[in-house]
Amino acid sequence: MGKPAEAVDQRPPDQAKMERIVSLCKRRGFIFPSSEIYGGTGSVWDYGPLGVLLKNNVKHAWWRAVVQQRDDMVGLDAAILMHPRVWEASGHTKVFTDPLVDCKQCKQRFRATDIEGDRCPDCGGELTEARPFNLMFKTFMGPVEDQAAITYLRPETCQGIFVNFKHVLTARRKKPPFGIAQIGKSFRNEITTGNFTFRSREFEQYEIEYFVPPEDADRWFEYWVQERLRWYLALGIKQQNLRLRPHCEAELAHYASCCTDIEYQFPFGWAEMEGVANRGDFDLRQHQEHSGRDLAFFDEAEKRRYLPFVIEPSGGVDRTVLALLADAYEEIPGGRGAAGAEVESVLRLQPQLAPIKAAVLPLVRRDGMPDRARAIYDELRRHWFVDYDEGGSIGRRYRREDEIGTPFGITVDSQTAQDGTVTVRDRDTMEQVRVAGDRLVEFIRDKLGEC
Ligand code: GAP
Repeated sequence: MGKPAEAVDQRPPDQAKMERIVSLCKRRGFIFPSSEIYGGTGSVWDYGPLGVLLKNNVKHAWWRAVVQQRDDMVGLDAAILMHPRVWEASGHTKVFTDPLVDCKQCKQRFRATDIEGDRCPDCGGELTEARPFNLMFKTFMGPVEDQAAITYLRPETCQGIFVNFKHVLTARRKKPPFGIAQIGKSFRNEITTGNFTFRSREFEQYEIEYFVPPEDADRWFEYWVQERLRWYLALGIKQQNLRLRPHCEAELAHYASCCTDIEYQFPFGWAEMEGVANRGDFDLRQHQEHSGRDLAFFDEAEKRRYLPFVIEPSGGVDRTVLALLADAYEEIPGGRGAAGAEVESVLRLQPQLAPIKAAVLPLVRRDGMPDRARAIYDELRRHWFVDYDEGGSIGRRYRREDEIGTPFGITVDSQTAQDGTVTVRDRDTMEQVRVAGDRLVEFIRDKLGEC
């Protein structure tokens, strides 16, 4: 891994495929444009009944891998609203800006770096000089809307970790190397949005701030780049669609001494899913200076006091969900079943991530099959999210489930009344096996790889 761009399987962008994924997401309840009945809000998205399950499964997988299964990591859930001075210390009030130009004629606003020439790309109108535009959303805290009450919606979750560093250190008796992990919403008034959820104004991040002795920072940086890449592979994302891209000097954020992005080959091209950065002691030093509190760690064994360096793997939950959908989405021209069918799509999500784990389907609506199927459904949903569907032909019902990635289709048929077995159809191979109804929980649990 970590191959340079030219060595990786490179596909031309496929916007039409992207549009079909967006359409599937809306049609089947994964992702909706926010406030659509009012015409929508720019680049804000709502997760529907299936989207929320998929997203929760992704967050759960991350939390389990980076917090639960490690003894050098603890979790945190800091507030979205923070003291406004946090953003002075972090540099966001000064540095977190894009140079923008406005069109004097049509009033559209553009990133100066996106514009070639000095005329509006939409209407040809004259443009203003470039001016800095802060990407943070401002709001007011308390009952008075004056300057003193201005604060911001956080543009990244990590500052909540830095300001709690000392509390966590003391409360959990930790010493470097150790990390604090957090999942939460962040907000940026992005100018160039688009590509569905890829760049939104409200999004969710998962961030780790891993505190290490300064002399070990390079080693831990390399470790986290590989560890995070390994995690995306473990989610089932195809290796040829993942690559590492080290930042060049000019791209580095003001706080970072080195950074490597983990990129995914989306239908619209290669783009960042996560950045792993060596932030040095920039953040703790800034907060120490601005707050006047001592944030150094005292190593009792070595009798040494220092500000730890920070390695930060910072990923976007929405981008991972989008990458998983794009990676799992497969179109089958002519369909998989009946000859001459239209294009069918299958979402080959890893079973552990699939929103719905199984669908229970009575073959026909008579001979007691719906009652038997309902009883199985009631039993299974004590463990997982499960669908029950008795509408339409069995082939059509399988297709509906394939489209949303349900790994197992359980059919109650005439044999069920005789020997208590049902068929279990595998979404990917379409193979069917007979399983005793009272062994279904065990069967599915084995397939999901859960203990
Ligand atoms: N604390 C460092 C930090 O926030 P970043 O590269 O600006 O670094 C980290 O953001 C991750 O957050 C990105 O890799 C991406 O996955 C996600 N992200 C950032 N801006 C986003 C946006 N506008 N929409 C969706 N995800 C975004």
